[in-house]
Amino acid sequence: MINVLFVCLGNICRSPMAEAIFKELVAQAGLSDQFEIDSVGTAGYHEGDSAHPGTRRVLAGHGIACTSISRQISRRDLAEADYIIPMDQSNRSDLQSMARNQARSGQIELLLDFAPDTQAKDVPDPYYTGDFEGVYRLVKSGCEGLLAHIRQERSL
Ligand code: 4NP
Repeated sequence: MINVLFVCLGNICRSPMAEAIFKELVAQAGLSDQFEIDSVGTAGYHEGDSAHPGTRRVLAGHGIACTSISRQISRRDLAEADYIIPMDQSNRSDLQSMARNQARSGQIELLLDFAPDTQAKDVPDPYYTGDFEGVYRLVKSGCEGLLAHIRQERSL
């Protein structure tokens, strides 16, 4: 199985959106049985919560289900993921600090490094901006690029 883990701060806005969109793209490609896809937060503020209503509304508007329940990243998540995908540079630096003290086989790479059509590095946090539709477009572009990258790397 190819294990892909999306990471943001609270695991209620951006990374659940990435998880849902990436699952949909993988399903459309007929590759669901080869992937394990999840999302987590670097913080545990919203542990046990459903995704933010804004994330759920935008996904529903695009016909995509969202079943994510917020949880904080564990050492095991970090050890087991093949692709660790932070939404912004602050999430990445938190992950890098955590990863310094433990074995890890996967790579840590920003989602938007896979988006061909933007120079932005960070997915803006809609928890503060309210722009969930703008985040959807960015995250979708990043997820498409990430899947293309993995398919090429894994000859899928
Ligand atoms: P997320 O957004 O990291 O995209 O899930 C946030 C959600 C909650 C908080 C911050 C960001 N918070 O401070 O509670």
